Amino acid sequence: MKLQTDFSNTLQDPLFKILKETVDEVGIESYVIGGFVRDLILGRVQKKDIDIVALGSGIDLAKAVQKKLAGAKPVQVFKTYGTAMIHWEGMDLEFVGARKESYMPESRNPEVTPGSLTDDQNRRDFTINALAISLNKADFGAFIDPFNGLDDLKGKILRTPLDPDITYSDDPLRMLRAIRFANQLNFTIERQSLEAISQNASRIEIISKERIVDELHKILATSKPSVGFTLLEKTGLLKHILPELIALKGVEEIEGQRHKDNFYHTLEVVDNLCPNSDNVWLRWAALLHDIGKAPTKKFKPPVGWTFHNHEFVGAKMVYKIFKRLKMPLNEKMKFVQKMVLMSSRPIVIAEEQVNDSAVRRLVFDAGASIDDLITLCEADITTKNPKRFERYHNNFKLVREKIVAVEEKDHLRNFQPPVSGEAIMEFFGLHPCREIGIIKEAIKEAILEGEIPNEFEAAFERMKEEGKKLGLTPHEKSV
Ligand code: CTP
Repeated sequence: MKLQTDFSNTLQDPLFKILKETVDEVGIESYVIGGFVRDLILGRVQKKDIDIVALGSGIDLAKAVQKKLAGAKPVQVFKTYGTAMIHWEGMDLEFVGARKESYMPESRNPEVTPGSLTDDQNRRDFTINALAISLNKADFGAFIDPFNGLDDLKGKILRTPLDPDITYSDDPLRMLRAIRFANQLNFTIERQSLEAISQNASRIEIISKERIVDELHKILATSKPSVGFTLLEKTGLLKHILPELIALKGVEEIEGQRHKDNFYHTLEVVDNLCPNSDNVWLRWAALLHDIGKAPTKKFKPPVGWTFHNHEFVGAKMVYKIFKRLKMPLNEKMKFVQKMVLMSSRPIVIAEEQVNDSAVRRLVFDAGASIDDLITLCEADITTKNPKRFERYHNNFKLVREKIVAVEEKDHLRNFQPPVSGEAIMEFFGLHPCREIGIIKEAIKEAILEGEIPNEFEAAFERMKEEGKKLGLTPHEKSV
């Protein structure tokens, strides 16, 4: 891999000139450090955050820099952490005083005391995140790499600056970060580090759910999340975070009948989905689409393994998981629930003859999420039998074509009854009563069965017929 170690372009950037000037004026020795330097060397799309470490007050430095940045918002000061932030031109510049940290076993919050640059680099998570570039006049642009992080970038290795046991136990979130970086950057976690993660896995319990979910989102956003989830499983972290997925692991055999390992199947589905959708909530749906299979699994001779109602059970579990992980219990969760609940519907259609009315019902029930649902179901095809694989995919093509046709004709995606309850009441001179519901349902059924188009006139005629069946007669004014 070609690494970029010539920083001259970046250093000529007006922002870096301002930083250099200000550092000199206020006389606080400072360095750019962390992810910005790492990504610069890797030639990754430059992220919008720059971390600056100051051997002195990061807050004072931030205030001086802010004055020179045209259009910068006022400095945001986080007194408890001794940090300051400037938002400027879509960037976040974060200033922090160099520090030494000592951790208590039961807490994530360290005792912080001012320290040297080396102290500050020592307390960082990985050698590749401890790289610094000087902003000081005397050696502006000098590259400071005390742990050979550059070699680790070359070798694609994640290694902690200190004994990994200390680094991970100090801040257990770093175990997730290690796995997330391994996944995002396609790096290997060095052996001792991996062992330390396994040993410290249970300490993830002291980390806030929000931060855990943040890392899960990042893993799910990679092009191959199975890499991250496999590491989470192997290190024992996953059972503390998503035990419902661990419950899907394993293959059982009774009377010569085996079911598939639904954990690895799930990971395959998530990977399959990635090239076709960046929607992180759809990726969550893929991750959780089979969770109902563990609690519903039964062996029923002569049928074999059954997972009766697992979609319904799974959708309920989605709520519990989102609640436990303090994820939003809003329309995002409802979307994931809907995808899980409906995850087997399209495959049933695709396995058999693709039939018009089944497609209509599917569009009606999935509404605006129909395309996402089909994308999920296509990813769910993990059969290793090439003939079956091709057949299912071809059938899904047909399902997609039929969806377009049904949509053009009947607009079922956001179905509104073509004849309103008021119109029915007026025509038959009724007050609110159950007959209105019966007629509305019959009209909807006729549309879904393709007996009548989704149009007012045809629906109105059907309303008259249905009313007649119920013994209703038109109100005088209607005749
Ligand atoms: N850091 C750390 N331990 C953590 C979090 C962060 O040591 N648990 C340090 C690392 O040096 C990291 C820097 O703080 O590079 C900035 O952290 P952050 O912005 O969260 O991560 P980045 O490494 O910049 O990468 P990303 O934005 O992809 O998370």
